[in-house]
Amino acid sequence: MSDYFRPDINAMAGYIPGEQALPGTPIIKLNSNENPYPPSPAVMEVLRNFNWEWLRKYPNPFAQEFRNAISQALGVPADWIIVGNGSDEVLNLLIRACAGTGRKVVYPTPTYVLYSTLTQMQSAELVEIPYGEDNILPLEELVVANGSVTFIATPNSPSGHVVPANDLRSLAANLSGVLVIDEAYVDFAEENALELVREFENVISIRTLSKGYSLAGIRLGFGVANPKLLSGLYKVKDSYNIDAIACAVGAAAMSDQAYKNACAEKVKVSRAKLASELKKLEFFVWDSQANFLLVRPKEGNAEFLYQKLKEVGILVRYFPQPKLNDKLRITVGTDEENQTLVQALINLQ
Ligand SMILES: Cc1ncc(COP(=O)(O)O)c(C=O)c1O
Repeated sequence: MSDYFRPDINAMAGYIPGEQALPGTPIIKLNSNENPYPPSPAVMEVLRNFNWEWLRKYPNPFAQEFRNAISQALGVPADWIIVGNGSDEVLNLLIRACAGTGRKVVYPTPTYVLYSTLTQMQSAELVEIPYGEDNILPLEELVVANGSVTFIATPNSPSGHVVPANDLRSLAANLSGVLVIDEAYVDFAEENALELVREFENVISIRTLSKGYSLAGIRLGFGVANPKLLSGLYKVKDSYNIDAIACAVGAAAMSDQAYKNACAEKVKVSRAKLASELKKLEFFVWDSQANFLLVRPKEGNAEFLYQKLKEVGILVRYFPQPKLNDKLRITVGTDEENQTLVQALINLQ
């Protein structure tokens, strides 16, 4: 390895995102938890009427129009919001501001792999604590570890389970560091953690427009927390991290909650149907409150099925790692896409 990089960068493996096909490739894409429905018509309207004058100038450094729309939609003051180029950027800001050499970053596993990548980039100490049987949160161990940053994704990925509110409250009350509640999939769930943000200064809820709002391509996410906690994140944020088009698109999407909720309802109905079809094929299917299902084929031949599905143009997510390599994570698509997947699995039996 070359000497250009810091030793810890040489030692780390980079994050590997889900496969993204070129636009126009005829595949059924069920590997990155995108929304199968188009963005709100209000978003299309913004794109059609976008004034080039806004491209000539730098955008508002705080994406004020977008923050105001989030504030309206969620009923939180605008100064309790920080926006990012995808929620990944907000996670990155948190790590940059709060973690570093000699500081611990703690989370239960399996979960979103980017937490590990970001921690290694920042040379912080990584503490991974396995989830118990049936996705029981290792509450005591997390409290004892007392990270400078503790990440909890809820609904979690790849399991789809929701962490009980009481566990989150206990964590918030007992940790001296920051509790990051990553709610990327909250739009498909029955509960959320916003109340805890109001209750505890050390809690931040992270949201994205990539899933519920069908806007993975524009890269928009945000965090909601007490301004005292946000003050450090603002110090490490790029001045113009959200471009003018994204800011206007994000504001339009947040202002159309009815459309987002209607799409999420359709996904939830399809999720139940898909789960039931897969159970008929003798898959073990974990209960999910996200827009995907974690499933285990009866024969445990997840990698074989992943490859065979890919050959017929259906992409699902396979994780070649202990405890996950006998499972697949399947994004809920339209009913038609889900049916094509189920038929392909029947053909493989
Ligand atoms: C748990 C979790 N958090 C955050 C993200 C990042 O989302 P984005 O950067 O698209 O907002 C993802 C993406 O899949 C995710 O699964």
